[in-house]
Amino acid sequence: MLLAITCRVAENPSQQVEDLAAVCAAVQNLQLAAWGEGIGSHWNTGKVTRLPETNALLELPDRGEQLVGFLYLGYPAQIPEPPKRRPIQDFVRNLP
Ligand SMILES: Cc1cc2nc3c(=O)[nH]c(=O)nc-3n(C[C@H](O)[C@H](O)[C@H](O)COP(=O)(O)O)c2cc1C
Repeated sequence: MLLAITCRVAENPSQQVEDLAAVCAAVQNLQLAAWGEGIGSHWNTGKVTRLPETNALLELPDRGEQLVGFLYLGYPAQIPEPPKRRPIQDFVRNLP
């Protein structure tokens, strides 16, 4: 299944940022819930997501929505080993 993930574009720029953050959180929750059911997913924001034709096909301009990305969902033919992760210390810092 291919889901087109969209977000309403609010007039207020701060609201836009908050709405986008909320949609991204929802997508990850969806991915985690899907994986709980054995369904794998892949989030994609490739070139096609930025084409005006894609936006028109999904009727986004008329709806006042922007395309956040495509989410591919399906039962995996094989499950790859998780890649090596960088340590958490690379991403957090403690204030003195
Ligand atoms: C917002 C967003 C957009 C992404 N777009 C792409 C993309 O266009 N092409 C791609 O190969 N991976 C893309 N990815 C990465 C994959 O969805 C996935 O995160 C990646 O395969 C690494 O997964 P892992 O961090 O769980 O190993 C994107 C991820 C995010 C969060």
